[in-house]
Amino acid sequence: MNRVTKAVFPVAGLGKRFLPATKASPKEMLPIVDKPLIQYAAEEAIAAGIDELIFVTGRNKRSIEDHFDKAYELEAKLKEDGKKDLLGVWCRMYSRQPEALGLGHAVLCAKQVVGDSPFAVILADDLISGEPGVLKQMVELYNKHQCSVIGVQTVAREETRSYGIVKATRTEERVYAVEGIVEKPVPEKAPSTLAVVGRYILSPRIFSMLESVTPGAGGEIQLTDGIAALLSHEKVLAYEFVGKRYDCGNKFGYLQATIQYALSHPELKDRFLAYLKGLKL
Ligand code: G1P
Repeated sequence: MNRVTKAVFPVAGLGKRFLPATKASPKEMLPIVDKPLIQYAAEEAIAAGIDELIFVTGRNKRSIEDHFDKAYELEAKLKEDGKKDLLGVWCRMYSRQPEALGLGHAVLCAKQVVGDSPFAVILADDLISGEPGVLKQMVELYNKHQCSVIGVQTVAREETRSYGIVKATRTEERVYAVEGIVEKPVPEKAPSTLAVVGRYILSPRIFSMLESVTPGAGGEIQLTDGIAALLSHEKVLAYEFVGKRYDCGNKFGYLQATIQYALSHPELKDRFLAYLKGLKL
């Protein structure tokens, strides 16, 4: 049986919705309380049994490499305080996306490093709290069916233009057989309200699909279009995950996540809750 051991993190996006915070620093380094988004994503992958982390980076992303690099002084201090090492001994690799040509193009930039095995893709700005983590839930489904799995959730019809939307038939609880997928359809044309959110397990055949897709929505090489092409060759499942997703690619979702994570942070929660309750709104 094929196991999922690699995860790709596309982190070359420009973070335009968070300027000026993201002018010189990547949006994936924005912290939710005290941990950057990219570290939540990496930890979710590791909890799913993944041991090779592949970051597809671009300009201004050096701080991500630094973040996952050995930091002897800090690690010694953490050890002294009885806290965990930042990221243990997992293998980290970096591939460069020279131009921001779209999510599909970013994934294609990981082709050499991924090779011929199934792999996960995690979009760090979709922060999802769940126990077990969403990727772990999806790996379990992959292990059962040995086919690509896409994480989905239901959105309001007027929001379809912000997501990849699947046309799918339910086969078991939370699981759908995908028949079609389109990137950012207008509400009147959306085949459903099941939206793709930032978690994928993909068969390596996606790479040859991505090599031949032409620019789609927004003039970009879309991962969605690669998945649509994959459907003529292989089974693809959509999985309605158990968990709460925060769209940290926009300011409102980012603030919601910050408040929610602060309210569950062991050192902060009581004080912060008392503070919120005392606000005169
Ligand atoms: C990307 C994908 C889209 C998906 C979304 C989830 O879009 O292209 O299919 O639904 O992530 O967050 P983006 O948000 O990067 O425009």
